[in-house]
Amino acid sequence: MIDDERPLRLDAPREEALAHAARLVEEAWRSFDRFRPEEPPLDQRVLELIRAGLPEDAVPVHEALDDAARILDESIAQPRPRYFAFIGSSGLPIGAIGDLLAHTYDINLAVDARAATVVEQQAVRWIGEFVGFPVASGAFTSGGTISNLTALAAARERALPGSRHAGLGGERPVVYCSEEVHYSVTRAVELLGIGSDRLRAIPLDPLRRLRPDLLAESIAADRAAGETPVAVVASAGTTLTGAVDDLDAVADVCDEAGVWLHVDGAYGLPAAAVRPELFEGLARADSCSVDAHKWLYLPKACGVVMSRHREVFEESFSHEQGYLPHQQHELHAADITLEYSRPFRALKAWLAFRAHGAHQFRDAIARNLEEADLLYRRAQSSEDFEVMDAPPQLSIVPFRHAPVGVAVDAHNERLADAILADGRIYLASALIDGEVWLRPCFVNFRTTDEDVEAILDVARELGARLTSGAA
Ligand SMILES: Cc1ncc(COP(=O)(O)O)c(C=O)c1O
Repeated sequence: MIDDERPLRLDAPREEALAHAARLVEEAWRSFDRFRPEEPPLDQRVLELIRAGLPEDAVPVHEALDDAARILDESIAQPRPRYFAFIGSSGLPIGAIGDLLAHTYDINLAVDARAATVVEQQAVRWIGEFVGFPVASGAFTSGGTISNLTALAAARERALPGSRHAGLGGERPVVYCSEEVHYSVTRAVELLGIGSDRLRAIPLDPLRRLRPDLLAESIAADRAAGETPVAVVASAGTTLTGAVDDLDAVADVCDEAGVWLHVDGAYGLPAAAVRPELFEGLARADSCSVDAHKWLYLPKACGVVMSRHREVFEESFSHEQGYLPHQQHELHAADITLEYSRPFRALKAWLAFRAHGAHQFRDAIARNLEEADLLYRRAQSSEDFEVMDAPPQLSIVPFRHAPVGVAVDAHNERLADAILADGRIYLASALIDGEVWLRPCFVNFRTTDEDVEAILDVARELGARLTSGAA
């Protein structure tokens, strides 16, 4: 028995608490294996728990764990196979186990942590290799938002050397992106002092990709007006429809104009391992973002930012402080990232690639792409559903219920609410060109064809109820 005079003692041995928690995890995994027919409402116990104030005294750890499991079970869990809203994730079991191990050791990757630091770099290289990006430097982040901010900070320093210290003064920096870029890019330019008014949203082609010809014109016009183009952000999978910008054509424009190209592949880039032709030109980008917590199935938070240049992140983030030992300065991640205290996020990615091998990931992604195709074809061939003109490029398939005689937007708005209230599938609506669409996204390895087919069955059934006035 270890010294039981120490503070923070549980009422049961920690090994028992761990075994109890492991049973709760097993139950959760079993419940994620198949869809559940409905989302349970918050029960009385959970209502009491969530109203409680700060507990002064301990409760038995098993009781606390059971209560936590109850709260989790009555929350919206993205790993369930019929969670199709936004861009979900799967909570890949080996990733969850990796998190438990990483958090147990609670290594801080702000400074050199010996093996863990090297494994982080190795895992960054593996993800680069998986998607086909020639990594020279990179780091794990909390996700696409921080990855995009980090890459744009590097681009700003390259375009305006010394601006991290001197500020932007009289400079007039500009960033370019698709009209459907993720909001994290807008946020990044706001935080970097560039300003969202100086983010040029380039119009889209019929496949909803930014138009390289208009991009080139916009950069030339800005240069002529004395502005400083800092970066172009191409989207490798927009959040709204999964459109992949023509990276090669955008890279041509960037090469010609001498502007940094960042590819936001937070959602879509893993698909480059399966359909490299769609991402042609990726290797020419200066930097890119990938979220392993989206389409590499890992639990949050697990993003990666990479550059094909060495030392670009140091240029923006390195610093000398008395409280950082400098003997192994080049290994301090705090010198290449925004965060200081950093958990060992890379471990779950490293572990998952080892335990599954890259080919299982490719197979799972290919299956999600097939699911998107299946839904598109089913909806297209049904008289009461509408799909977009072009088939999905990735795994997002906007569709709407449009039986004869309904006001389609209003009907689909009500239908989206009805679907959420019904609980058999979890689906969100989205506005595309001002119209209301239902927007499922397939990024879950647990989803089956039966689950995909349930989307149209449920939408049709609830839609019919709405039009007959029975809802
Ligand atoms: C294309 C894209 N970029 C960036 C982000 C932001 O990523 P995170 O939520 O991990 O910060 C998202 C999130 O959905 C995204 O789809």
